[in-house]
Amino acid sequence: MAVLRITKYGEPVLRRKLKPVNFDELAPRLPQLLKDMEDTCLSVHGVGLAANQIGLDLRLAVILLPGEKEDDPPTRYVIINPEIIEKRGEKLEEEGCLSVPGLWADVKRATDVTVKYIDEQGRPQTKRARGLLAKAFQHEVDHLDGKLFVDLVDPTQKPAVKKAIKKLRANWN
Ligand code: CO
Repeated sequence: MAVLRITKYGEPVLRRKLKPVNFDELAPRLPQLLKDMEDTCLSVHGVGLAANQIGLDLRLAVILLPGEKEDDPPTRYVIINPEIIEKRGEKLEEEGCLSVPGLWADVKRATDVTVKYIDEQGRPQTKRARGLLAKAFQHEVDHLDGKLFVDLVDPTQKPAVKKAIKKLRANWN
């Protein structure tokens, strides 16, 4: 098990549009990489982790969707080169991010999305999602495009968010 350091707000890698993954090239390293990403995400009770959150320029993310009951194991989704091809509905809901620890803010997201991606076996997938999974898909695809959830807060809330980050970052590692 390897718990890796998670990059934090302000680090350039989080603002990079990440490089598409060549699946065959990455395949030999993929199982270990995914295990490390999962361990890292679980260690801080996260729902998802994108490659640039461990400093890698790769268009992939891991989502660990919590089970219905507390003891249920999370469902793992590995999304490689994902693309959101359809969005429906809209909802303002509180969100957080492992790269901006301690901050929670309301952001607007689609409530229902369809995502195309390559899974961890290299198979193309199309998945429609609602609820928390839809939110996670959008949050992680944003990461791969160099975007963070704080970019999406209402402009009137931005000064407060900036102030909060300034305070919080004193405690980040
Ligand atoms: Co995040």
